[in-house]
Amino acid sequence: MARILTGIQSTGTPHLGNLLGAIRPAIELAHQSENESFLFIADMHSLTQVKEGATLRENTYAVAAAWLAFGLDTERTVFYRQSDVAEVTELAWYLNCFFPYQRLTLAHSFKDKADRLEDVNGGLFSYPMLMAADILLYDADFVPVGKDQLQHLEMTRDVASRFNHKMGETFVVPKELVRDETQLIPGLDGEKMSKSKGNTLDIFADPSALKKRINKEIVTDATPLEEPKTPEGSVIYNLYKLVASNDDVARMAESLRAGGYGWGHAKKALLEAVVDGFASEREEFNRWMSDKGALDAELAKGAKRAQEVAQPVLNRVREKIGF
Ligand code: TRP
Repeated sequence: MARILTGIQSTGTPHLGNLLGAIRPAIELAHQSENESFLFIADMHSLTQVKEGATLRENTYAVAAAWLAFGLDTERTVFYRQSDVAEVTELAWYLNCFFPYQRLTLAHSFKDKADRLEDVNGGLFSYPMLMAADILLYDADFVPVGKDQLQHLEMTRDVASRFNHKMGETFVVPKELVRDETQLIPGLDGEKMSKSKGNTLDIFADPSALKKRINKEIVTDATPLEEPKTPEGSVIYNLYKLVASNDDVARMAESLRAGGYGWGHAKKALLEAVVDGFASEREEFNRWMSDKGALDAELAKGAKRAQEVAQPVLNRVREKIGF
């Protein structure tokens, strides 16, 4: 039996891009496989950027509530908060001491910001070693990641091999499972959907807030209502395809081509598809968010199981080091 482990960024309430690109595929993988799966919210990594406790905490809750609302089964998946198993920082320190400074300077997480060094803290610099510790602490065999994380995974494999080589066989050297990201999820402006671009479709938002965003942020051309329109290439149509049934999509395409159907109608249809299509998940999400005690209990259950796996691994490492 193999162990699959992955970390989730805790950057706030997940949007449609997160759902289709990461949450759904990860839940499918966790539920269909015979393997054991570990999934955690990387709130310690968030601390490299977020410095308000209340925000950090809320972001973690929102991410946890979203995964649970989309059906993550916490009996089958060990689901926990990174900071609840603080042993990971001890391992991160050890790994830092076995990894060359020079190689860390090449990590994208640091390099991308290196031209503005005043924004870089030590935590951001050693980010890859905390990520390596996340993985090695649990003897993970496979790590599903997006392409942007491949370099970090390479560093994980590298530090594990270096340690094994110097100190004797200690760590499982993990393999990556690259997430297929062929499907680009467009944001409201047509660019790739991402929180930092402010172009997200927020599936858990209030219908009225969602309506405002769709109406305001999606720009359409000025083709008069009665004229035929081309669905392909329009942001509304492309988003609609991601959330509506095939029949409804075909119907929208037909109406647009026929004329007498405006972009305003299409926006309304998109809004309805999001509001109705995710109604039960939105309800579940809100239920979890109004019961933080229940969320804490879920995460504590996961942390306990995670700790049981982590402790022996950490002891193995301490022994090798000579502590
Ligand atoms: N750095 C990852 C990201 O930005 C999140 C992450 C942290 C992670 N620790 C991990 C992913 C361990 C996989 C394994 O998406």
